[in-house]
Amino acid sequence: MENLIIIGAGGFALEVIDLIESINTTEEKYKIIGLLDDYKKDFILEKYNVIGKVADYKKFSQNSFVIAIADPNVRESIYSKLKLNDIKTPNLIHPKTEISKYTTLQADSAIVINYSTQISAEVKIEKAVIIDSKSYIGHETTLKSFVTIYPGVNISGKNLINEKTEIGLGSNIIQGLSIGSNSLIGAGSTVINDIKDNVVAVGTPCKPIKDR
Ligand SMILES: CC(C)(COP(=O)(O)OP(=O)(O)OC[C@H]1O[C@@H](n2cnc3c(N)ncnc32)[C@H](O)[C@@H]1OP(=O)(O)O)[C@@H](O)C(=O)NCCC(=O)NCCS
Repeated sequence: MENLIIIGAGGFALEVIDLIESINTTEEKYKIIGLLDDYKKDFILEKYNVIGKVADYKKFSQNSFVIAIADPNVRESIYSKLKLNDIKTPNLIHPKTEISKYTTLQADSAIVINYSTQISAEVKIEKAVIIDSKSYIGHETTLKSFVTIYPGVNISGKNLINEKTEIGLGSNIIQGLSIGSNSLIGAGSTVINDIKDNVVAVGTPCKPIKDR
């Protein structure tokens, strides 16, 4: 079994624990050693202990890591430190996810894909992308590094979601658009036009309301 440490001990870490345990029901693959979190001490999530702060990752560098933090900027910062130290970061895919054989995931790069998500053909998924549950990613769409897709999102074909952008709960994006980097699409939005970098955009049709 591969020893695995979870960075983050919040709500998404709870989902990641569930995901890892689901993988293990199919094949005993990962042993969860514990969690690292800067804000929680003497804390137990399900049956797993917080064993240190994020900076303690170096003490555990023989283990593999998953980053269970939805914020793309925090995830990027932690991911680059792990990679500078040559630490293993497996991709974790829930067994109840359907991924086309024509889709490409950047190998061993801390990608997390949660249950009941469907990923169509020729989708490209870069490093440390999170796709939460019940989402659909259409053909030939690219999710650049550190993108976070919250639950219940539908992204149609030939879209480009640029680095560190978050797509809010239950949003829909029609085909062939480009969503800028470091932007946030509000929950329940319908995106029908390109969205630029560094904005918060909301509504139907989705429009920027402020800079980020
Ligand atoms: C977009 C978002 C970040 C805005 O939050 P905020 O910066 O605190 O902004 P406010 O709540 O002050 O809202 C600003 C305006 O946008 C509107 N607005 C906010 N979110 C909206 C949304 N999702 N859809 C439509 N309008 C929205 C507000 O009604 C408000 O309008 P007003 O100025 O006419 O009163 C937030 O509402 C949101 O949707 N976050 C995504 C949450 C999510 O998906 N979480 C996943 C958890 S798993």
